[in-house]
Amino acid sequence: MKDALGGLQHVLILGGTSELALATLRELDLRPGARVVLAGRDPEACAAAAPPLPGVAVVTKRWDARDPGSGAALVDEIVAEGQDLDLVLAAAGILGDQEQAEKDATVAVEVLQTNLVGLVAVLLPLASALRDQGHGHVVVFSSVAGLRGRRSNYVYGASKAGLDAFAEGLSAALQGSGVTVTVVRPGFVTGRMTEGMPTPPMSSTPQAVGTAVAAAIRRGSEVVYVPPSLKPVFGALRLLPRPLFRKVPG
Ligand SMILES: NC(=O)c1ccc[n+]([C@@H]2O[C@H](COP(=O)([O-])OP(=O)(O)OC[C@H]3O[C@@H](n4cnc5c(N)ncnc54)[C@H](OP(=O)(O)O)[C@@H]3O)[C@@H](O)[C@H]2O)c1
Repeated sequence: MKDALGGLQHVLILGGTSELALATLRELDLRPGARVVLAGRDPEACAAAAPPLPGVAVVTKRWDARDPGSGAALVDEIVAEGQDLDLVLAAAGILGDQEQAEKDATVAVEVLQTNLVGLVAVLLPLASALRDQGHGHVVVFSSVAGLRGRRSNYVYGASKAGLDAFAEGLSAALQGSGVTVTVVRPGFVTGRMTEGMPTPPMSSTPQAVGTAVAAAIRRGSEVVYVPPSLKPVFGALRLLPRPLFRKVPG
């Protein structure tokens, strides 16, 4: 439950080491007494990645998106603790290797299990818990890669297309419940996930994403592009006929 000044009191990050989620967390101005749960496949790595947040209790929990059962167990554990959740940042994700995925479908399956199946498995019971408490905010880290299928990354793109559609539908399902869903669609972000890759035009940084997401949470925006200029660009790209879209570099 938010405090008397409307400050967030209880935050859950799915993908507790995520650069983009942790950059968002730093921008949230959490007050002393707040609690942050970092959930990930390696709780020790989550603890090590946590930024200094004076007076804020940071706890870690084991959750692996490749094990859908661990999503329901995580939600049960958090609900049993009895403190309402104000904000969920659903940031777990892997880029995967497109070339490898075309040679070995198990690589593609792992991308889909992590980025789509595992998140759906945890977000459905979470949404139900937030609906029961009558308030809350869920931020889903999608990607512009999910807006059209590209030769270079269509397995990752498919996982994000599925997640994005799921989040849009979840938002519709939660209308009137007091729960808000924000879908974040970053373009290329220079950072851990894209290390070693050439930086394309219109890229951004984890810091820029964190600032944009924190502002979107305050406004209650349903969709946010980072940088914002990607919105009109992808609005146009979505309308391009396939033969022309295939000629667009990237
Ligand atoms: N960076 C970009 O260019 C970019 C652009 C658009 C969208 N996005 C999306 O934004 C989100 C955050 O990305 P980021 O840049 O913060 O990447 P990141 O720093 O690599 O964070 C990804 C997070 O996902 C977690 N994860 C991976 N597999 C998992 C699993 N099986 N179970 C639970 N957690 C798992 C990672 O945990 P470990 O520490 O255990 O690996 C890490 O916490 C992702 O969904 C990504 O697809 C990123």
